[in-house]
Amino acid sequence: MELSEIVRAAFEKAFPGEDFGFVRVLPATDSRFGDYQCNDALKLAKRFGMKPRDVAAKVAAALDGDSDATGGAFDKIEIAGPGFLNLTVSSAWLGARLAELAAQPNCGIPQKGAGKRIVIDYSSPNAAKQMHIGHIRSTVIGNAIDRLYRALGYTVIADNHLGDWGTQFGILIKGYRECLTEEERENLTVANLEKCYVLSAAKAKESDGAWKDACRAELVKLQQGDADNLALWKRFIDISIGEFERMYAKLGVRFDTYRGESYYNAMMPGVVERLVAAGLAVESEGALIVNLEAEKLGVAIVRKSDGGYNYTTSDLACVESRVGEYDPERIIYVTDDRQQLHFRQFFSIAAKMGFTTRLVHVPFGLMSYQGKAISTREGNLIRLDELLAEAKRRALEIVRERGGDETLAEQIGYGAVKYADLSHDPATAIDFNWDKALALEGNSGPYLQYAYARVCSLMEKAKDAAPESTEPPQPTIDGDQQPSQLSTPAERRLGLQLLEFPGAVERAAEAYKPSVLADYLFQTAQLYSSFYQSSPILKSEPKVRASRLRLCALFGEVLKAGLHLLGIETPNHI
Ligand code: ARG
Repeated sequence: MELSEIVRAAFEKAFPGEDFGFVRVLPATDSRFGDYQCNDALKLAKRFGMKPRDVAAKVAAALDGDSDATGGAFDKIEIAGPGFLNLTVSSAWLGARLAELAAQPNCGIPQKGAGKRIVIDYSSPNAAKQMHIGHIRSTVIGNAIDRLYRALGYTVIADNHLGDWGTQFGILIKGYRECLTEEERENLTVANLEKCYVLSAAKAKESDGAWKDACRAELVKLQQGDADNLALWKRFIDISIGEFERMYAKLGVRFDTYRGESYYNAMMPGVVERLVAAGLAVESEGALIVNLEAEKLGVAIVRKSDGGYNYTTSDLACVESRVGEYDPERIIYVTDDRQQLHFRQFFSIAAKMGFTTRLVHVPFGLMSYQGKAISTREGNLIRLDELLAEAKRRALEIVRERGGDETLAEQIGYGAVKYADLSHDPATAIDFNWDKALALEGNSGPYLQYAYARVCSLMEKAKDAAPESTEPPQPTIDGDQQPSQLSTPAERRLGLQLLEFPGAVERAAEAYKPSVLADYLFQTAQLYSSFYQSSPILKSEPKVRASRLRLCALFGEVLKAGLHLLGIETPNHI
């Protein structure tokens, strides 16, 4: 039984006929006072006209006097301060709970999302441009949130809302026809597209206006559905997606759909019509606007004075389409925090239009590189494939000494890049630093991967040392064998921490902060390390040895499951 349920039952016994649904037991904030605490007696003092300590005393007595109901869960029940209940659990209870956790699939992550759908819109780069270092955060944070929700049982639709429409395509089409060589046109790459854009845009600026007009004319032809221009545009998009997918494959990221802005083109006039009909959009200087001044969100243009639609209109059409097609419980958008006003505006308009789906913007802060702001002008706009290649190269230097190969270098290098981002609250600005990202000590991806590999080698050693034993080589644990000999403070603390894994996953998902899980994993690895250093394992007497090995195995499973939720691989050997 859950601790909260046990304590709730004691409240009911002490004060019959009352509703105690709100009673919760939480991990102790200070392990000196116990393993868990319950602060709810304080809330009841008024209701019962009693001192909070007396309320707590009655509950403690009910807990103490009923070891059948508590299943011998407690070694110590104390009342502290104004009326806190401090609880120290028994080793038997802890061992049983750990065995339960080990027996559950997915390390006990609750399937809260079963039957519910979520759309998550992330990464979403602009087409015809190479991905650069600035795209890491949306891709990596978005993917971790995607994995967290899938793990909780949600059906997730990961949608890449590509920037695949707009004036740049007129410039690109003109540039493609006139600024590229025959060969470049034949072997078209995103790099070539980028090049012809730069050349064409420069000409549009310099010339007498004829080039600019020609670009504009190509755009109009495209918008009107000219077959040649549409085919070219389609080719640009396909090449872009192909290139993005090469990056995504390295990062372990995959999308269910690639619906760029263009997908919603045909729906935008209808959206605007509905906004006008509902009295939400009004004319202003030739444009159609929605006034959001009352909410201090300014004014959002939904149709420009030249008749064109914009980002807001396209996102409104997109909500309409997603709600209609998937009926999701929630739509999550992961973008940098400079887009906050855009999201607030269109969420507000969507609500006014009657959409009740929860719309969530997860804004992330800027990333700098080795202490310097990332900017095109500074020339430090590092391409994502260059960054990943460098990560691999640097990781190879580290793993070569240990006999590691290229695959291992990718696992470590890419893992380091991801963890360097995910270990920070998305809302904060971060600095990417190679030494920190790749450190084998400290809060880094390689440190956690290394901790996992060490557990694996411990399991190997355990097997070699006792060939007749059935101890599995992999960190897997047999459900009905529990770490029953939890005796030292360090192993108790590790055991208690492992029980918090499902909660950490839930909290990370609910807060849209993979960093909550990263923090949890780092703390767990630190507790493991203190346990490992203070409590002999292989040299202990057989019962203790077996129990400690099972605790190590469970740690390995939790660490592996947790890192996978962050998109980080866990090689067995480093
Ligand atoms: N393409 C946009 C950008 O590069 C991000 C799109 C985010 N998704 C959305 N539905 N607005 O900033």
